[in-house]
Amino acid sequence: MFTTGNGPVQIPEAAIRARVKELGEAIARDYQGRTPHMICVLNGAFIFMADLVRAIPLPLTLDFISISSYGNAYKSSGEVELIKDLRLPIHGKDVIVVEDIVDTGLTLSYLLEYLEARKPRSLRVAALLSKPSRRQVEVPIHYLGFEIEDAYVYGYGLDRAQFDRNLPFITSIRPEEE
Ligand code: IMP
Ligand code: MG
Repeated sequence: MFTTGNGPVQIPEAAIRARVKELGEAIARDYQGRTPHMICVLNGAFIFMADLVRAIPLPLTLDFISISSYGNAYKSSGEVELIKDLRLPIHGKDVIVVEDIVDTGLTLSYLLEYLEARKPRSLRVAALLSKPSRRQVEVPIHYLGFEIEDAYVYGYGLDRAQFDRNLPFITSIRPEEE
């Protein structure tokens, strides 16, 4: 049995599925006649990525990047380490970054700068979750799944101390419990 946390954010499997389908349709509309190049930010976005690309009925390519912010989710230092670089060039491509969650925004801000330097034709962001109340730096999110309040969320790819990425839903604990 999968265990649900007692925090304020609870997103059932069916709600995620419906929202991901809508995001896929929006991307397909916006990128009609083009070939988006989707970049999954490991590890947290791996399930969102897998579902999202299957909701986009367009020819597309994809790649993975792995970055890690120092500190835990509640003490993002803004220092980001590249763990695994892209395999494919992005120069001239219509890149869509696929993120699990935007919290302080520091990781995404770093990543966007890093990718921008490689001169894609366009650069957009799809994020499953956003916690606007925690933002320290402004970052664009073109395709957002759910705006959530400040709680530590996990499941559907996001971890709690590396566990629970396999939960098919999103659940949370209260920040003071972390
Ligand atoms: P940032 O604070 O926006 O830089 O967030 C960086 C990363 O921290 C995200 O991409 C997630 O991988 C992780 N993170 C932030 N908040 C949470 C959370 O509530 N649950 C799980 N991971 C989180
Ligand atoms: Mg992430």
